[in-house]
Amino acid sequence: MLSSADVIIVGGGLIGLGVAWRSAGRGLRVTVLDPSPGAGACAAAAGMLAPVTELHYGERSLLDLNLASAARFGDWAGELAGLTGRDIGYRTCGTVVAAWDGADLKDLRDLHAFQRELGLEAQLLTGREVRELEPNTAPGLPGGLLAAGDHQVDPRRLHTALGEVAIAAGVTMLPSRAVSAVVSRGRVSGVRLEDGTLISGDQVVLAGGAWIRELDGLPPQVLPAVRPVKGQTLHLRAADPGLITHVVRGSVRGRPVYLVPRDDGRVVVGASSEEAGFDTRPRAGAMYELLRDAQALVPGVSELEFEHVATGLRPGTPDNAPIIGATDLEGLSVAGGHYRNGVLLTPITADAMAQLLTEGAVPPELLAFSPRRFTASPQSIDRDQGAPAWN
Ligand code: GLY
Repeated sequence: MLSSADVIIVGGGLIGLGVAWRSAGRGLRVTVLDPSPGAGACAAAAGMLAPVTELHYGERSLLDLNLASAARFGDWAGELAGLTGRDIGYRTCGTVVAAWDGADLKDLRDLHAFQRELGLEAQLLTGREVRELEPNTAPGLPGGLLAAGDHQVDPRRLHTALGEVAIAAGVTMLPSRAVSAVVSRGRVSGVRLEDGTLISGDQVVLAGGAWIRELDGLPPQVLPAVRPVKGQTLHLRAADPGLITHVVRGSVRGRPVYLVPRDDGRVVVGASSEEAGFDTRPRAGAMYELLRDAQALVPGVSELEFEHVATGLRPGTPDNAPIIGATDLEGLSVAGGHYRNGVLLTPITADAMAQLLTEGAVPPELLAFSPRRFTASPQSIDRDQGAPAWN
């Protein structure tokens, strides 16, 4: 059997659906392939939109991208609500970072100095100010920081809304696994599904999160440099909302932990970070550490109802930045490697990829995230053989 599309997107998580929606909006015929859309990193993500509090030293260009994407969320929430009637849980709640002891506070002060150097909105807090903003934090915390512009969205609600708008825009969603790419004459011309079906397409986008390298038949050098980084989140519920009103993050003896409150009383506690390959089994020790550290910051956590633990695989990259853009194989592009920022970077990735797929180039500010930055030496794909040729 054969069907065809202008664009085939391999992966129906937030990134795949975002790219599909925006590309269909530009008139492309789009097919998304995913046997279980939204079951990857999205299912475990807490949905923090936190360019300031997730700032890491040496990641300046990523910061700019994160800020630009965060700024689009208000419009996205409005547009998605208008089209679907759904609330994606975008809340401009701000984030309080609490230090557990003097050493954590010193790290926070250093980070604050760095944030200020970059012109970011962040305010140091005394212990008393932390308690004024969040009365249910532990007494005696030495201080903290307020990032008033770091917000949250509910990733699962966002995924549902994106699926609906994509379908309404004409996207074909196939619950099928793409097993191999069809490459001929130096370009990709489609993908083959598990059942042998061939889908031909002018362009193929790899958007498979941590599993992005699983498509057979591609020259090795165009496979994105992505590895799985396991993360566990605990999903808890209070009878009444109000235990905390901001996202509360903290460093407890150097270990990061965060608590994300939803309107309905649910609290997501995250997240572990483990280099464990594709192992998605929940690990008891990680759950214990998260609960222990969350409770150290907000003691009332121990009274919440335990709903479930979610395990996801973040698509990590060598420089912690996403991989967005065209590869050296004609017709093949990548929207992946979003590591800790997949939810946050969904809007900007979707728009940049839609531009690439219709106009041939991503916006200039996305060039630093090209898949080609990991290319070890100049290379091209042999146009006759469809095989890699190293120059
Ligand atoms: N961005 C939060 C996490 O990756 O845990």
